[in-house]
Amino acid sequence: MRILSGIQPSGVLHIGNYFGMMRPAIELQKEGETFYFIADYHALTSLRDPEALRENSRRVALDFLACGLDPERAALFRQSDVPQVTELAWILSTIAPMGLLERAHSYKDKLARGMAATVGLFNYPVLMAADILIYDSDIVPVGKDQKQHIEITRDLAGKINETYGSEPDQPVFKLPEPRIHAKTEVVPGLDGQKMSKSYGNNIDIFGDENETRKRVMSIVTDSAPVEAPKDPERSTIFKLYSLFASKDEITEMRERFEKGGTGYGEFKKELFVKLWDYFAPMRKRREEILRDKSYSDNVLARGSERANQIADQVMARVRAAVGLRTRGGEDRQNSRPRATGDGSVRASNAIAEKHQPASESP
Ligand code: TYM
Repeated sequence: MRILSGIQPSGVLHIGNYFGMMRPAIELQKEGETFYFIADYHALTSLRDPEALRENSRRVALDFLACGLDPERAALFRQSDVPQVTELAWILSTIAPMGLLERAHSYKDKLARGMAATVGLFNYPVLMAADILIYDSDIVPVGKDQKQHIEITRDLAGKINETYGSEPDQPVFKLPEPRIHAKTEVVPGLDGQKMSKSYGNNIDIFGDENETRKRVMSIVTDSAPVEAPKDPERSTIFKLYSLFASKDEITEMRERFEKGGTGYGEFKKELFVKLWDYFAPMRKRREEILRDKSYSDNVLARGSERANQIADQVMARVRAAVGLRTRGGEDRQNSRPRATGDGSVRASNAIAEKHQPASESP
């Protein structure tokens, strides 16, 4: 089983990223072959400062490794180190219906927030589909905000299969499945909306201690007085606490909410302590990684090599399927994923063969 996900280096990683995607992705390392990447091409749609993009990309790699990404199991790489993905995005864009992309929530939200309607922003889901399909991914761990993008990916893969799949059991692409955990699908931010850097309501994973405390203490609450009973289900403090605490601790806080007699300020202090302790081992690991200057670079180089191998094989198959010159010059029909009994598809051994160097003249 192949598992893939990406994260944009458009800012510093927050606990919404951690619980929505990073922690599930790290857990999935035990279950299959994992590919995780830093979506720097995507970040270009919102970040226009080259130094910040480079710095954020380095930071995402460092933070992901500190949080438990194991480079012996997972390939970690920059999206732009596999530029073939932009070729696949072009091919997918030739069959992508405008209407499908016009309905993308994330595109509409971005326009509503005042972002300029660029072609890149509009095509964002097509590039994301290419990211997923170019690795023959089976499972994509994400937060709920990415669900529609994966549905679009499945639609585009289906269209290519209908148009170019020569036999029903020889589709060009596998259809990926999202992996979304109900408990962490939308981590709330300081104001109770989805936590997001662009809403300014984020609590960062590796924020400075005073700043993190200040942010936790600024969580928006209602004006219930100390003695009043409080509704835990409607409280951002309780929802965030539940991410970090044990079952017994959650039950205990729930009872104190419902009983009254404890103010929100007290609950916020307890949340801060839990949150700060939770990330303590990761902060330590991060310091260790930082001491080895070339560690992250080496991990990214190895990850990109693995990712390129797969991407080359899949692109050879796609080029053959749509009628472009295959760069090895050979007939790649046999390298299609084979259909399994349950209607999903499995890559045949032929996909695993290493891509041959170009033998045709240009
Ligand atoms: P991005 O960078 O916005 O977020 C990275 C991951 O974090 C999840 N996430 C959250 N989950 C729960 N609650 C939150 N408040 C929260 N905020 C963020 C996101 O759902 C995401 O899983 N388009 C993607 C990047 C991408 C990608 C891909 C992902 C590019 N290509 C291919 C998967 C597969 C994005 O912007 O994620």
